[in-house]
Amino acid sequence: MKLAFLAGLASATLLTLVSAQAGHVPGSVPDNKYEPLQHRLAYAGPTGMTVSWNTFAKLEKPSVRYGTDPKGLTSIAYGSSTTYPTSRTYNNHVRLSGLHPNTKYYYLVANSVESAYSFTTPREAGDHTPFSTAVVVDLGTMGAMGLSTHVGNGADNPLGPNDTNTIQSLIQHQSEFDLILHAGDIAYADYWLKEEIQGYLPNTTIQDGAKVYETILESFFDELQPVTAFKPYMVGPGNHEANCDNGGTTDHRYNVSYDVSICLPGQTNFTGYINHWRMPGNESGGRDNFWYSFDHGMVHYIQLSTETDLGNGLLGPDEPNGPEAENGGPFGRYPNEQVDWLKKDLESVDRQKTPWVVVAGHRPWYVSASNDSSTICLGCQQAFEPLFHQFSVDLVLSGHVHAYERIAPIFNYVIDPAGLDNPSSAWYITNGAAGHYDGLDPLDSPRQPYSVFSTDAAYGWSRLIFHNTTHMTHEFVASRNGSVLDRATLHKAHDFGCEIQGRGYGGWGKAKRWWC
Ligand SMILES: *[C@@H]1O[C@H](CO)[C@@H](O)[C@H](O)[C@H]1NC(C)=O
Ligand SMILES: *[C@@H]1O[C@H](CO)[C@@H](O)[C@H](O)[C@H]1NC(C)=O
Ligand SMILES: *[C@@H]1O[C@H](CO)[C@@H](O)[C@H](O)[C@H]1NC(C)=O
Ligand SMILES: *[C@@H]1O[C@H](CO)[C@@H](O)[C@H](O)[C@H]1NC(C)=O
Ligand SMILES: *[C@@H]1O[C@H](CO)[C@@H](O)[C@H](O)[C@H]1NC(C)=O
Ligand SMILES: *[C@@H]1O[C@H](CO)[C@@H](O)[C@H](O)[C@H]1NC(C)=O
Ligand SMILES: *[C@@H]1O[C@H](CO)[C@@H](O)[C@H](O)[C@H]1NC(C)=O
Ligand SMILES: *[C@@H]1O[C@H](CO)[C@@H](O)[C@H](O)[C@H]1NC(C)=O
Ligand SMILES: [Fe+2]
Repeated sequence: MKLAFLAGLASATLLTLVSAQAGHVPGSVPDNKYEPLQHRLAYAGPTGMTVSWNTFAKLEKPSVRYGTDPKGLTSIAYGSSTTYPTSRTYNNHVRLSGLHPNTKYYYLVANSVESAYSFTTPREAGDHTPFSTAVVVDLGTMGAMGLSTHVGNGADNPLGPNDTNTIQSLIQHQSEFDLILHAGDIAYADYWLKEEIQGYLPNTTIQDGAKVYETILESFFDELQPVTAFKPYMVGPGNHEANCDNGGTTDHRYNVSYDVSICLPGQTNFTGYINHWRMPGNESGGRDNFWYSFDHGMVHYIQLSTETDLGNGLLGPDEPNGPEAENGGPFGRYPNEQVDWLKKDLESVDRQKTPWVVVAGHRPWYVSASNDSSTICLGCQQAFEPLFHQFSVDLVLSGHVHAYERIAPIFNYVIDPAGLDNPSSAWYITNGAAGHYDGLDPLDSPRQPYSVFSTDAAYGWSRLIFHNTTHMTHEFVASRNGSVLDRATLHKAHDFGCEIQGRGYGGWGKAKRWWC
């Protein structure tokens, strides 16, 4: 059984990615259980970087050797190795600290037999030189365990036989961007159940659930390693990290509906997500991988949890009794922790240093999609939108709906008359078109009045180009051929004078900036 199962994975040649870990087939188990796999990096404060990787055996004291000279990795740092029930691997995390800003370092994790990998530390806040960022939301495992050219009863848009998928596109384009943002729905391991029911996974059954779930995760991290070993990969929580039942899954053949009660310990309550990643929650006064912020050059970036912890008595969509019924969280020490933190974080931004403020959260509220509580997060809107407006957030990124839609700058459903020319409202972009087993979602027709450009027929990722303190460009890049299908530039004066003409819930008026 075990051999046949693995043979099934190895035969997924069509879309198999060559891992940077030479010869390792994504999702397979190496002979050497200490072999370092799934390298991934995350910013850890202005002078820190966390190096994470997985091994099939526990490391007593995971270590990373590093330095600015690839031939002399003179420094060493140690960390910890964590696992959870049903996981086949150990997550090793080592935080490197006291690094110089905007500097290239080389590194090797314990038991590496390869030549050193490298990363570049964050640009200092206040460094106004241009750079780009890649953004994905809703990116699943590619190939035999996820999105492919043949998709059971799954995707409306299978990959074309020669199409470059989004993971491959990110790998190809990695010299163009400093980092990748991924605001939730990572790997889609909870699709194991639907993939089983639809007969997509040869030689496995529902009894193999735990192994299949973990193999989907392992495949994802293996597939991404050629880029995540070199570029920080900053993630946020999505509903598919919460539990193992994919929001409830029905097997029509037997008239059985599965819910979270089918999930094993380790597959619930964001456990895989908590174990796999080390986002800078501590470094930014936020909460672990759930809400945090960091600076990079002229940008202050905030990641929120739209899944839990909306505060003010609002029910997070993944919380017990929430619309997704995923029994996840809450993660704050008290109910309003996330919103209180967001306000404090926004208040403390030095807009002279980081004029751009970009917020990402998994779920949208402005999108041309079914107006139901598991698609559109009105609780998120109530929790966050007033603060975005009060503190002049520039750009809000989301996904969850598997399509691309660029929204006008908008506040409380009122489209900003200035458009992209110095609006006083935040600009919203939903891009959940990275790709997963079920393909793309059709957007509603006609589109909402605030929709400016959209496509629900191409896989793609977003490229954010920060030119200077007043101009940034958003591009939607088609993964299959690298073409830019949509490009728009936002101009913000960012003059930071005291008196502003702005719009509150009470209508237009003059207000004082909070920093005056
Ligand atoms: C599934 O198992 C059968 C019988 O062992 C084998 O012939 C077939 O090649 C396997 N399929 C895959 C995709 O591994
Ligand atoms: C895919 O590429 C191969 C080799 O270049 C070519 O023969 C084939 O026609 C292509 N298929 C499609 C559907 O474009
Ligand atoms: C399916 O199951 C439900 C309850 O489990 C039952 O009410 C319904 O009649 C069943 N439908 C069929 C077609 O068997
Ligand atoms: C964050 O800080 C707390 C308290 O110092 C510590 O217990 C926890 O392990 C830290 N979390 C991470 C992810 O480093
Ligand atoms: C999920 O985790 C949170 C934070 O540790 C905890 O407060 C909550 O009770 C957990 N939920 C369940 C259903 O175990
Ligand atoms: C969506 O639903 C909410 C509440 O269920 C309602 O207040 C709102 O008007 C609806 N929006 C649209 C565009 O139908
Ligand atoms: C900022 O970048 C934009 C777009 O490249 C350019 O048009 C503008 O002139 C630049 N502004 C300054 C002050 O350099
Ligand atoms: C690239 O792919 C997109 C999405 O399928 C398509 O619309 C576009 O025409 C292609 N561009 C080129 C140059 O082939
Ligand atoms: Fe989602």
